Amino acid sequence: MQIITTTAEVRAAACKWRAAGERIAFVPTMGNLHEGHISLIERARAHGQRFIASIFVNPMQFGPNEDFNHYPRTPERDAEMLEAAGCDMLFIPDAKEIYPAGQEQATRVSVPAISDELCGAVRPGHFVGVTSVVARLFGIVQPDAAVFGRKDFQQLAIIRRMAQDLCMPIEIIGAPTVRAEDGLALSSRNQYLSVEERAQAPALYRSLQQAVKALQALSPKGISSEAIAAIEDESRAYLQGLGFKVDYFVVRDAASLLPYVYAAEVPGVVLAAARLGRARLIDNLEFDGI
Ligand code: PAF
Repeated sequence: MQIITTTAEVRAAACKWRAAGERIAFVPTMGNLHEGHISLIERARAHGQRFIASIFVNPMQFGPNEDFNHYPRTPERDAEMLEAAGCDMLFIPDAKEIYPAGQEQATRVSVPAISDELCGAVRPGHFVGVTSVVARLFGIVQPDAAVFGRKDFQQLAIIRRMAQDLCMPIEIIGAPTVRAEDGLALSSRNQYLSVEERAQAPALYRSLQQAVKALQALSPKGISSEAIAAIEDESRAYLQGLGFKVDYFVVRDAASLLPYVYAAEVPGVVLAAARLGRARLIDNLEFDGI
């Protein structure tokens, strides 16, 4: 696996591969990789012959009081994991490579409305940071396909919208969430949990499962906005009772992320974000049309 730091080197390799008729699949990350990230590389296999991953802890997507300085950075271990997973190239740019004129002067890409709610409401400016860096990385790598985890369901929806609106010829692939045996979705931020909090954390996934079960128990006619609101309220109360500080717990249309309105076979998703100690956990559970 080549480890490179400049746009010119990525372009040169990508150009050669493309000329040889090979498709390039790209996995952007912020590093501190775990099995969930490696599953993205595995997912990429079905969409290309060459695999590029990037590691860039993007300052633009962190708020002033968030964990940018403390975000875990483990580049050597990450490189070993990527190489073992069959990645061809790891791009580790520094901030100057990504924001040559400085972050403040950098061009921004923003996807309105969908970026301003849920995680966007709690983390103002976060998704503009995400779409701005992903658009830039897409411009550098020019992949045929890019893979993102479904755990960050809102992020995936926003990136899909950006790629569609800006006519980017890139297939956006959503890879299933990887979970620990007890159901907790893998995340670099899980390491902020104390031993007691780690034992409590799988309740977030359980609450999503319970909510989907409760929705499915309603008859189609019974899936009113009041019934959905009651399930959301009960789920929030359940998590609060266990010591979580809930940012949101909502049932949404899986395609638009608008509030779920029952129509036969419209897929939905239950999304939740909650703080447990120092960790902010997010998770979701999709359901087929009820
Ligand atoms: O999901 C992440 O790790 C980041 O938000 C991403 C997509 C790599 C952009 O910095």
